[in-house]
This record gives sequence, structure tokens and C-alpha cells, in this order.
Amino acid sequence: MERRDFIGLCASSCAASGLGFSVEALASAEVRPRAYERTLLTDSTGRPLLAKQLAVGENYVFHYPFEATPCFLLNLGKPTPQNVALKTRDGGTYQWPGGVGPQRAIVAYSAICSHQLTYPTRQISFISYRERSTAPQGGRLNMIHCCSEHSEYDPAAGAMVMGGPAPQPLSAILLDYDAATGQLHATGTLGGEMFNQFFSKFEMRLALEHGGSKARQRVGNRATVSPLAQFCKQQVKC
Ligand code: FES
Repeated sequence: MERRDFIGLCASSCAASGLGFSVEALASAEVRPRAYERTLLTDSTGRPLLAKQLAVGENYVFHYPFEATPCFLLNLGKPTPQNVALKTRDGGTYQWPGGVGPQRAIVAYSAICSHQLTYPTRQISFISYRERSTAPQGGRLNMIHCCSEHSEYDPAAGAMVMGGPAPQPLSAILLDYDAATGQLHATGTLGGEMFNQFFSKFEMRLALEHGGSKARQRVGNRATVSPLAQFCKQQVKC
């Protein structure tokens, strides 16, 4: 059950039981991190991917926490701010902790646009990180940009919405960096997840691509990271 559904259920239950909670009070509640599998990020050969292997500004893709839910992994090349205050579309509040790695410059986000769920497939990607966009309104530098309706997210600020119709930041993927080995693990999410809507909207396509219900399976303890240019045949640059 996602947070929006949970709030709706709570509101109904409270009203029915005569409790004095308001929907507004519930909606402004703190969003807690959600733990999933602790998943080692690997390269295409199965070896642990080391933070130092990530090229600055390159789009990398892996799937987490489900087999069919893509995420971006980025090395922004300089330290990000820490504890950035963000809100979900429901008004839930949370603090994105910041990047990880030797420079605190490595970040990860769900690659499912929070507007209409555009996401990178093996055939085409309308959403990616770019140092400069050529969007009609000019675009901003160093943003994750969705070409569908030109939503922009700042990856150095928890994927805060900087432009376009997106109603909330991309859900952050929580990373654990081991300074001794240089390895990276994904451990959970923070922010407004879109997974239920994603599975509902693309049910047929995902079943064909992944086979039956495999799309909804949780990834195991390893996930392969690929450059977006290798993962997908065509990147739409807008
Ligand atoms: S789906 Fe991304 S901006 Fe509309």
C-alpha cells in the first residue's frame, strides 16, 4: 500500500470511528525511509561496481527495488548539499540525506517521472540527466529532464522539481557506500514512490517485456548497473 492509499484509509477510519484527526494533519506527516533488499550494485560482469568507476555526468541505469523499476545512478562530480527538505504531492515532508561516495557526489533516483510515469525502456528513453537541455523553455543546467512534458528535477537536491508539471520529486534510492571497499549498495527508497501506479499503467507491456508477473518481483541481493547508452537504443534529447 502506498502512502496516498494509506492516508485515505486512515482518514476514512478516523472519520468512521469519530477520532479527531484531520486529513491535513495526516497529509503533513513525515515520510519515513522505506527499506527494501540490501542490494549490491555490480558491473555487467557481475563484479562489484566501485564508486570510482562512475564517470562524472554519465547516466547509469539499474533496476530496484523491483525487476522492472528503473533507477538512475549518477556521479555529479562535486559534493551535494545534505539534508535537503522536500515534500511529496500529498504534503508529506522528508529530508533527502545527500550524495554518497568519497566526494558525496553519487546519487540515485527512481527513473519513473512523477508526472505521467515516463521511464527509460530498452528501446527508447525520454528521461535522463543532462548537463544542458535544449527544451523549448530553455531548460536548466545539470538536471534530470523528462522530454514528455519537460519536467525537470535537480539531482543535487534530492530530485526537487525545478520546472514542468511534475507534482513531486523523483523517489530517492538510498545508497550505502563502503569507504573500505568502494562498493555501493541500494537499501531502500525515500519520498513519493510511484510503483503501484507504474505497475498498473504498464501492466501489459511489463508482462510482455519481463514475462508474466516477473516485473513485480523484488530484485535480489545484486543489481547490474549499465550506462544508459548501452541499456537503451535511443535517447531522446530535448
Ligand atoms: S511524464 Fe515526465 S513530464 Fe510528463
